[in-house]
Order: sequence, then C-alpha cells, then structure tokens
Amino acid sequence: YLQFEAIGIPRVKTDLSVSYVDHNMLQTGFENADDHRYLQSVAAKHGIYFSRPGNGICHQVHLERFGKPGTTLLGSDSHTPTGGGVGQIAIGAGGLDVAVAMGGGPFFLTCPKVVRVELKGKLKPWVSAKDIILHLLRTLTVKGGVGKMVEYTGPGVATLSVPERATITNMGAELGATSSVFPSDKQTLAFLKAQGRAKDWKALAADIKASYEETVTVDLSKLEPLVAQPHSPDKVVEVKSLKELPVQQVCVGSCTNSSLRDLMLTARLLKGKQVHPGVSMTVSPGSRQVFEMISKNGALADMVAAGVRVLESGCGPCIGMGQSPSSGAVSVRSFNRNFEGRSGTKDAKVFLASPEVCVAAALTGKLTDPRKLGAYPKVTLPPKFTVDDRGILPPAKDPKTVEVLRGPNIKPLPTREALGDSLSGVVLLKVVDNITTDHIMMAGAKVLPLRSNIPAISEYVFYTIDPTFPKRAKEAGGGFVVGGENYGQGSSREHAALAPMYLGVKGVWAKSFARIHRSNLINFGILPMTFVTLSDYDEIAQGAKLE
Ligand code: F3S
Repeated sequence: YLQFEAIGIPRVKTDLSVSYVDHNMLQTGFENADDHRYLQSVAAKHGIYFSRPGNGICHQVHLERFGKPGTTLLGSDSHTPTGGGVGQIAIGAGGLDVAVAMGGGPFFLTCPKVVRVELKGKLKPWVSAKDIILHLLRTLTVKGGVGKMVEYTGPGVATLSVPERATITNMGAELGATSSVFPSDKQTLAFLKAQGRAKDWKALAADIKASYEETVTVDLSKLEPLVAQPHSPDKVVEVKSLKELPVQQVCVGSCTNSSLRDLMLTARLLKGKQVHPGVSMTVSPGSRQVFEMISKNGALADMVAAGVRVLESGCGPCIGMGQSPSSGAVSVRSFNRNFEGRSGTKDAKVFLASPEVCVAAALTGKLTDPRKLGAYPKVTLPPKFTVDDRGILPPAKDPKTVEVLRGPNIKPLPTREALGDSLSGVVLLKVVDNITTDHIMMAGAKVLPLRSNIPAISEYVFYTIDPTFPKRAKEAGGGFVVGGENYGQGSSREHAALAPMYLGVKGVWAKSFARIHRSNLINFGILPMTFVTLSDYDEIAQGAKLE
C-alpha cells in the first residue's frame, strides 16, 4: 500500500481489490496495531475492500466470499493460486507488481507451460487432498512446477470438493508452479450455492482435444497417508515409515487446511478424547465464517474439551507469529511450508501432513498412521454456510474525508539510483540450492512487525545463515550474492529484495531463480544474473571481487 500510494493513482482500477490482515496479527507492541490502522484507512481512501483482523486468512476468505470461476486474480502472496480451486486463474506476485496492477498497469509474466495432472479413482478413507499434493511434491519436487501452470483433469476431479481442491491448488506454490487450476463443475456450484453466490458460477473445463507439455497421472485409490519431513515440502514419505516418532506439537490451520470440512473432521476425531499430555495442540480457523460455524454447531466445544488451544483466525504459527515449538521439538502441522526456522524455533523439526495425520499425532503423541484410529468418520457439511460480510469493510464513498493514519514505525520506502553501466564489488555471501525467501528475510513475531520500516528490518537479512551479513554489506558499500538452483523459492516476500537493496546489494548470481523473487529483485533494482556455464558457480568463492 505504501507502493500504491507512491504511484499516486487515487482509486484502484481493478474490478475488485481486497486488503487482508492475516499475517501480522500479534500485537506485542504498537507496530502491528498501527499497521492495521494504516491499512484500514488507506483501503477506504483508495477504493479497496478491507478484511479486518480476525476475519480470516486471505486465501480462505477470498475463496469463500469473492473467488469466481473464469476470472483472474493477482495477489501479493505466493499462495494466491488457492483460487484455482474454484476455477480461477490466480497468480502470486510481488507487492509492487500488485500495486501496479491495482493502478491499471499490466502484469507481465513468461507464458507458462501447461502440465496436465490427471486424477483417476477415489481416495481411500484416512487419505485426503493433502496427500494428493504431497504425492505430487514427492514426484515433481519443489522445482517441478517452475515456469508451469498445473491443470487438474480426469474422473477423480469430481470426487473432490472445492475446499479439497483448494488445498491442492494452494500447495501448487510449493511445486514452484505459476498457478494451478481445477475445472468449474457441480462441486463448484455446490460450494458457491453454500456461500450464497450461485450467480457467480459458470461451467468451465479443458477442451477435450487440449494438448499439454506433459501429463502426470495420479491414481487416488493407491495413495497412502503421507508426511513431508523437515525442512522441505518435497521430502515426502509415508507416515508409517517414520516408526511412531514422538511428537511435541500439533497445529491444524493455515490457508492450506483450515476449511469447515478440515475443522469439523478434526473436532469429530477429537470428540470425547484428550490430547496426549506430551503434545501442545493448536487450531486456527481459516476464516470468521468457519470459526462462527464451529462455534454454533458444537465442534469448537469438542476441541476445547479435548485440550486444544484455539487461536484466532489468521496465519499464526504458519508464519512464526506465536506458538513457536520448544527446543528441538517435532511439530506436525497441516500447513504448507516447513523451512528451517520458519516456526520461530531454529532447531524445531516441522512435518507437514493432513488434518487426519495431525489428529492421530495429537492423540497418540507420535507420528502415527491415522488408520489406527479406527473407522473413518463421515463429515457432512451443511448446504448453506453462515454468510456475514460485516468483517469486510467497503471503501469510503467520499475518499476526500478519509485521513490516512500512519504510526511512527511506518517509514517511507527507500529508493535506489538507476544501475550504472558496470557493477563491481565483493561476493558478500555464497549460498546453496533452494534458498528460500525465509532464509533471506526471516519471518516471525520479532521481525514481521518491522515490515513498514526497511532500515530496521534490513538488520535481519540472511539472519539464519550469517547474522554478520548486514554489517558486512554496509561496510563493503554493497556487493553481490551468489546462489544455487531455485534461489528465492517460497514466500513472495518482497522484503527479501527490498532489504538487501537497502544494504547495497547490486546483483545476485544464481544457477536459477524462483519466478516471484526474480521479479522482486528487478522491481527493487537488484540485477538477477544466471550462469552461462553452471560450473562457474564452483569457481566463485565468497569474498571474491567481481566486476
Ligand atoms: Fe498465511 Fe501461512 Fe498461508 S503465512 S497466507 S497461512 S502460507
């Protein structure tokens, strides 16, 4: 929003723009509360709907209340492709790209290849949508979707509800895919009807003769309960292979698995039982709608009675905003990312799994095959959901009357001179393959509140890899970073470019870049460069002087 303001266009030019407060929720000081107030006022002034803190996680709320088949969606969060669950082409981008689009500018991307994932058969009891995407991550890896769009087809599609589809499209981001999309069919209509939005439905499917760059076939009936091991979403194995590893924390929630279906299932499995004394279990509902519905139908009471610690609707532990595990703990989460340190505890071991596997771990205190819990409960969802949009504030009718409220932590955006004809400096840091934006600019309750204050947040660049980086970069008057494959994967966090720019980083050499991070580097004046010969990576040492 600081960037949109800097562009100087008074009202957004999109059909719809929505601002969500979901990541920076903990108010341990004035910073986040000030940011919430700023965001609410700037949205009112510039024609943007404002989803209030507590109203839910952006992707879950957008799917419920706004997502329409056959439309495009650009979001400044890498899990924006969740919208593909309702047949939307939803793409994650950096904040500046989104600000430009809100101002009516075009969004540029390299046209992706299209991969067809053909789903056959039907999931067995205790195996769920999470296992489908974990299976794809096991097969294709976190680089497998780079430069690609994933389109789901085949007879297995009709067996999956929209929230299940959204779990899959959400974690298409972990494949590195530009986006993922399901057809719009009867399941889509049922979802939109339940949301009171049947008028938004239209049927959409791939042409029968559509051609694809590649095809992957998944037989749903052959899948087993899976889990991604630390510290990458593609380190996937069958739960039973882990031999009942002891577990200290379980978290159900995040934009991947916090729908009404997920929480009803969690409550049903916990009803009348007790969370293992060695486990701390949290549940964060994905939206206020989900929270209200589980409150009214008794599911919330069942979870509270079972010993669950219920959190507000928001990202929470997924982004390290509270609930950091104990030292060295094994934490099993229904989330989408398990990068080292993202939980807020550097030596925690985070596993990603379905809500079914999470509950089995919570009850037994071990990573257990959920099929040991007995009969699989049937969860029936109501045909009509509770619709109450009072948590989404419309923009002001008269923008002139709105004053934008800024707190002392909100600093102007730093800028940089145009790059010169030649660049020189030292290699400040050399890193390995698959470096995430969490490595470059960590999240967590301590650092995230500094997002509106670039000088302050820049002190944490590469903190988990080399805490001396900011000091060295400033002393050297900037320089270069050398990276391996898929540099900048993960979150669309543009601070992973903005803060290094502030420290004087001029260029990054890598074997390859993740799409959003490469765009963010360009947007903030850092030159992304790839090696012509990959072995050159081995030749360049940290400390080398380059021109
Ligand atoms: Fe939030 Fe985690 Fe999703 S930070 S948007 S719940 S990936």
